[in-house]
Amino acid sequence: MPKVKVIHGPNLNMLGKREVSIYGPGTLDQINGAMKGLAGRLGIEISVIQTNSESEIIDEIQRDDYDLLIINPAAYTHTSIAIRDAISAVNKPAIEVHLSNIHGREEFRRRSYIAEVALGQISGFGPGSYMLALRAAAKILLEEPPHKLDA
Ligand code: DQA
Repeated sequence: MPKVKVIHGPNLNMLGKREVSIYGPGTLDQINGAMKGLAGRLGIEISVIQTNSESEIIDEIQRDDYDLLIINPAAYTHTSIAIRDAISAVNKPAIEVHLSNIHGREEFRRRSYIAEVALGQISGFGPGSYMLALRAAAKILLEEPPHKLDA
């Protein structure tokens, strides 16, 4: 079974308590539970990590124990050339995810260092952003190219 690694970056452990008007009332455990359920139905294996540490994110990206990366780098999206370089170095497909629409918020959030090394970015659908990323991952891992995301 293909393996997807999901990395949640800094402050995402605070979901449910943190800026609920932006990020919604759902907790990270609820999002992870929903993702595990969907992954089972799609026929992919997932492992999920949350860390507030940039170096741990890089170590996880470098670990050769997955086929595709789903990553919400949170604030590191806008600052971390090191995470961008790690994704580029391992040469595995990566999907960038955000709960909020980073293009509709403050100017500094519009710049993503990750987008250029990701297959694509899903931003603005709340917890649904992760579910859409998983569906895209299943298409990419289980079907032949060109990965048209129909139905
Ligand atoms: C976020 C958006 C980032 O700008 C912010 O720093 C986060 C969460 C999101 O999921 O919407 O922590 O990545």
